Amino acid sequence: MKHISAPDSKTAATATAQLIIDHAANNPNAVLGLATGNTMRPVYKDVAALAKNGRVSFADIISFNLDEYLGLSADAPASFKRYMHDNLSRHIDMHPDNFHIPAANPKDAAAEAALYEAAITAAGGIGLQLLGLGTNGHIGFNEPGSARDSRTRVVELSEQTRRDNFSNSNDAPTHAISMGLATILSARKIVLLATGASKSEAVDKIIAGKEMPDWPCSYLAGHSDFTLVTDPAARGET
Ligand code: GLP
Repeated sequence: MKHISAPDSKTAATATAQLIIDHAANNPNAVLGLATGNTMRPVYKDVAALAKNGRVSFADIISFNLDEYLGLSADAPASFKRYMHDNLSRHIDMHPDNFHIPAANPKDAAAEAALYEAAITAAGGIGLQLLGLGTNGHIGFNEPGSARDSRTRVVELSEQTRRDNFSNSNDAPTHAISMGLATILSARKIVLLATGASKSEAVDKIIAGKEMPDWPCSYLAGHSDFTLVTDPAARGET
């Protein structure tokens, strides 16, 4: 595991954006795994700015998002499809057909999840997977207790996640489609960005380097090309 201990959250986001840009520049046909969440907003802002400056083209890049809520309309402000459009895809030259995210309202959610996993495999697997971190240690929407060998599937969201992600948790969806832990761990490179004090307990569990089923993020430490990027608050420094 490589750990980039950034001096502040802005530097942490820029370092993460730089890793994505470098990967895209070196692999013009890269398959990226993308994440959502507030942590990623400044990252995508930097990626878009660097791409605009002509540093890198996303024209032949394919992406797969980690997850999507089930039951929201596709353009609902809280949907991850809408998030990706607003924060990244409309700012770069990516072809809309190359951008993948699980459907929010599929007729058969289990079938949609299986097709999504098959599409990742058909694309040759993920080259660089970007990850945020849940306060409870989830990655994607793999909540505590998720199986190490899980693939893309329908998942039930924990109360903690529904509270964290929605100001009124009564409005929060109860389920999502998420890449599994095995899907994520099959990526050739993984970069996780954690900023803010609410992530420090989960960051500790990654750094501990021991697999703990109650902390899905702990499985990352055993990956052969994993980079953790943190700001001081996420490291528990005051
Ligand atoms: C959601 C996503 C996770 C992401 C998390 C972090 O739960 N499913 O992939 O890591 O948000 O969100 P934030 O960056 O807003 O803390």
